[in-house]
Amino acid sequence: MPTVAALESGGGGGQDFPAKLTGQVLICSIIAAFGGLMFGYDIGISGGVTSMDSFLMKFFHEVYERKHEVKENNYCKYDNEYLQLFTSSLYLAAIVASFAASLFCKRFGRKPTIQAASIFFLLGAILDAAALNIYMLIAGRLFLGAGVGFGNQAVPLFISEIAPARYRGGLNICFQLLITVGILVANVINYGTSQLQEYGWRISLGGAAVPAIILLVGSFIIVETPTSLIERGKLEAGLKTLRRIRGVHDVDREFEEILHATELAKKVETNSFRNLMKRSSRPQLICGTILQVFQQFTGINVIMFYAPVLFQTMGFGSSASLLSAVVTGLVNVISTLVAIFTVDRFGRRVLLLESVFQMLIAQSVMGGILMKFLQSTNEMPQLYAKIVVLLVCVFVAGFAWSWGPLGWLIPSEIFPLETRNAGFFFAVSMNMLCTFLIAQAFLSMLCRMRSGIFFFFSAWIVLMGLFAGFFLPETKGIPIDEMNERAWKKHWFWKRYFDEEESPAPAHLEWKDTMTRN
Ligand code: BGC
Repeated sequence: MPTVAALESGGGGGQDFPAKLTGQVLICSIIAAFGGLMFGYDIGISGGVTSMDSFLMKFFHEVYERKHEVKENNYCKYDNEYLQLFTSSLYLAAIVASFAASLFCKRFGRKPTIQAASIFFLLGAILDAAALNIYMLIAGRLFLGAGVGFGNQAVPLFISEIAPARYRGGLNICFQLLITVGILVANVINYGTSQLQEYGWRISLGGAAVPAIILLVGSFIIVETPTSLIERGKLEAGLKTLRRIRGVHDVDREFEEILHATELAKKVETNSFRNLMKRSSRPQLICGTILQVFQQFTGINVIMFYAPVLFQTMGFGSSASLLSAVVTGLVNVISTLVAIFTVDRFGRRVLLLESVFQMLIAQSVMGGILMKFLQSTNEMPQLYAKIVVLLVCVFVAGFAWSWGPLGWLIPSEIFPLETRNAGFFFAVSMNMLCTFLIAQAFLSMLCRMRSGIFFFFSAWIVLMGLFAGFFLPETKGIPIDEMNERAWKKHWFWKRYFDEEESPAPAHLEWKDTMTRN
């Protein structure tokens, strides 16, 4: 029986399992991806809101006054720690929340974690829209952060676990696609609400409730992942769900593979964080977390959070700046579609490597132009300001079909079950930590390093190119529970981490006898 062979080879059988791309999988992936919409909305909304006069006047009066001083230094007019804290507090909360979420996700499953995310997010949106003072405002951001922590922990894992291996990349990138849609929608809303004098910012911040409600309602429709059901001992429900989402009756091999992964996970250790410290977990842990560091050190969030501020620094008017941010947002969405259709065909590495060249050129030319044409107090020639907007688009496109989506996809697919939740937690929280650092530091860095900041990011891009070229194994098309066998143990560098590993004894699984099936 092929099932026994697959088990005996430790699950490294080497083929994809029978599966159709069913409506169930599509619908569940799209609903879950609304977690990305919440995240993206938040990324996109704060930059625009912090450049609105009515918002600054109410909460950050000092910044408001400095912004309107004629001779203020171009690079320093927004440098204010509290203003940065408004943007970045969300990410601090998200780090703590994603730790809680990793435990919650393992104990209660992916679906309740997604539900909790939407509730946190809804509360955050309400608090922010109603904010009467800075404390309420920050409290709202903390709730939103908890929502992001829970959502970002559960959604990519959820999609990677329900997707058939050969469509996993494209489906998982729906999460990133909705992040980009969220950013774009936020930019458009900011553009509209910036015209409203008093309450524009309240509408912008309160709008976060919409994706939260969609996700909350949708989360009652989605299934729990077979892996999570089986992991929590609900074998029959796991098998039933697997049949339903695969659209074929014969799911025995995949079921046994998941069962095998679960048995292994249980045998190894009950504490997945301790497991993660083992030598054989190092390759996935290092790659999963470093990918997120690199994702953030492309400098993408300088553009996402501060594009309107940056464009104003270059001399565009307030609404021209928001409009330019809308244009870059549109480029972001369209380019993510490119990733969806290419990632399972060309593989992850090709996209990562191509984009390194593209982003490097864009960042360094941008730095060069700003260095030459934007001094402390002048106004930049309009032609060059427009070229910079174009270069921002080139940069965003490169990011959007590579490090953006793959920063989430790869960590969600490379860990074996016994370390998946804990390992992915490290990836998510590293992303949040680096996002926090950039959000918190950027305006001060811009003030001190000026155009040099773009060369700083260029250096990181070179580094990440080398890393992707030499150290990242290709994971395209490999079933999620066969990664160790088919990706890590075959990689020229990482295979040494498995040298002394005993190959796990085949689990003796007699599920067919013990379960009533029909
Ligand atoms: C990143 C965000 C970023 C966004 C831009 C995401 O993958 O995690 O930090 O703002 O992409 O589209």
